[in-house]
Amino acid sequence: MNGPTPLVDELLALASGSGLSSPARAAVPGCGYGHDAVRLAALGFQVTGVDFAPLAIAGARTRYGEAVTWAVADWLQDPFPPFDLILDHTCFVAFEPNQQAALVAAHADRLRPGGLWLGAFFRSVPAPGVPPFAISEGEVRALAEGRFDILHLAPALSSHRARAGREFLLVARRPEGPATAA
Ligand SMILES: C[S@@+](CC[C@H](N)C(=O)[O-])C[C@H]1O[C@@H](n2cnc3c(N)ncnc32)[C@H](O)[C@@H]1O
Repeated sequence: MNGPTPLVDELLALASGSGLSSPARAAVPGCGYGHDAVRLAALGFQVTGVDFAPLAIAGARTRYGEAVTWAVADWLQDPFPPFDLILDHTCFVAFEPNQQAALVAAHADRLRPGGLWLGAFFRSVPAPGVPPFAISEGEVRALAEGRFDILHLAPALSSHRARAGREFLLVARRPEGPATAA
């Protein structure tokens, strides 16, 4: 997409009753060219856009300047301060299925207790076996449970028409207290 997904606004609306207060510290892992990160910044969040591809971050900077803190970093490995919110629109779906549990653990570790993971997923994809990968709501629930309380898990209502009927959304909260293993 050449701009932010409408799902950013839908996810924030879904999370609005979950104690999120502005200005919150938000991370967008796998931010690519930064469209969704910049949308969050425009809504008042203090945003860090993270991607391990230097060309992606360079492109984000060129397009959007410094409204977002851009980081060339590995979301799974590198240290970050705790965030109030993680927006994962197209990072999870790019991960091989056998790496998805590690990504969920990283999301939990990088949130403060009580912090929120806002996620978007594909129920079906045009080309199975290559990214983006499809996943079911039940599989997402199984991956998140133990590390997150699931507040919302249901079909997306505002998908781009090319993706209509294929996306679902997650709002999940890291429980108060120390991180737990699944
Ligand atoms: C499908 S792209 C999505 C890009 C962007 N969100 C968009 O919609 O334009 C997935 C991105 O995740 C990044 N990525 C994958 N694994 C990563 C990791 N471990 N740490 C940081 N970025 C990662 C890739 O470099 C890529 O830019």
